[in-house]
Amino acid sequence: MNPDFESLFGGPPQAQAQAPGRVNLLGEHTDYNDGFVLPVAIPQQTRVAMRRNGKSEFTLHAAELGSAVTFTLDGRPNEHFASYVYGCLRLVQQEGAQVPPLDIHVASDVPMGVGLSSSAALEVATLRCLRQLLNIELDDVRVAQLAQQAEIEYAGVRCGIMDQMASSLADTTRALLLDTRSLERRSVALPQGSAVLVLDSGVARSLAASGYNERRAECEEAARLMGVASLREVEHLERLEGLPDKLMRRARHVFTENARVLKAVDCTTPQAFGELMNASHASLRDDYEVSTPELDHLVALLQAQPGVFGARLTGAGFGGACVALCARDAVDQVAAPVLEAYRKSGQQGRQLVPAER
Ligand code: GLA
Repeated sequence: MNPDFESLFGGPPQAQAQAPGRVNLLGEHTDYNDGFVLPVAIPQQTRVAMRRNGKSEFTLHAAELGSAVTFTLDGRPNEHFASYVYGCLRLVQQEGAQVPPLDIHVASDVPMGVGLSSSAALEVATLRCLRQLLNIELDDVRVAQLAQQAEIEYAGVRCGIMDQMASSLADTTRALLLDTRSLERRSVALPQGSAVLVLDSGVARSLAASGYNERRAECEEAARLMGVASLREVEHLERLEGLPDKLMRRARHVFTENARVLKAVDCTTPQAFGELMNASHASLRDDYEVSTPELDHLVALLQAQPGVFGARLTGAGFGGACVALCARDAVDQVAAPVLEAYRKSGQQGRQLVPAER
């Protein structure tokens, strides 16, 4: 049963699928450098439902769009939100599938624009739904690859593959250790007795797209100057000597962050894992320069709170959310005092994970 779908389109959907957002625990800005990442899925999901409509146009309904959007596969929709769905339809068509005009409904409780991969959730859920409806063979890795391609070609962000792999393959109880070069992966238990807390800083990620593409270009330039295919190839910090200061700091973040991910999966205590998260934040702030004063403040408040093992900004940065590793029995008590102290600086944050009921 999908009452929204039925009341909008006058009949039940022929396929339905869902996919989660993700929060990255460690390994930030490493994926487009062929490095290592450690995301975990969040409970919030995006749901997509579809049916063939027998018409000449596609109709897309989503709360985010305000009203229905219609388009054909030859004419790209103007609405940014719709371009993710459109991108997936086009890519499936390019894979050789016949894609007939569809009625499509999207519903999501993945927070948007805070660094929890609402766009990857939308892409993966759309592709899963198309896979089911059109009976096409796509494994979960291929789904992630097409989703990433949709993001790059149709939403204009030159992202890595972490978000889409996490949405397609991760679950909420174990982290996904992913080598983004080989796509080798394994699931890793969270440190004993710990739980994940995610707070939104309330600061919009205004520079995210431009700053993101700029960082990526800087990494490519650093790799080019060192004569390596990607920053993943750098084996010693000494290799970075001689790079212009800014590029050296960008590359140093990537090098140390990869090392932190690999160290984290062998951590035997949540304290040790938390220290790596704290170090990651410092590196993102000082070397990679993707933090903001508000994120630094919220992270510092989290780090000082009893029951918190470590905290950092998560996602691309420039605003958005912070993630903390907390003692499992303290996770429900951490957010309130932290958000209260954060409010005193004039900012309004909110808890995103665990989802408040
Ligand atoms: C965004 C991108 C990812 C990744 C992170 C930063 O979420 O979509 O590919 O690069 O930023 O780690």
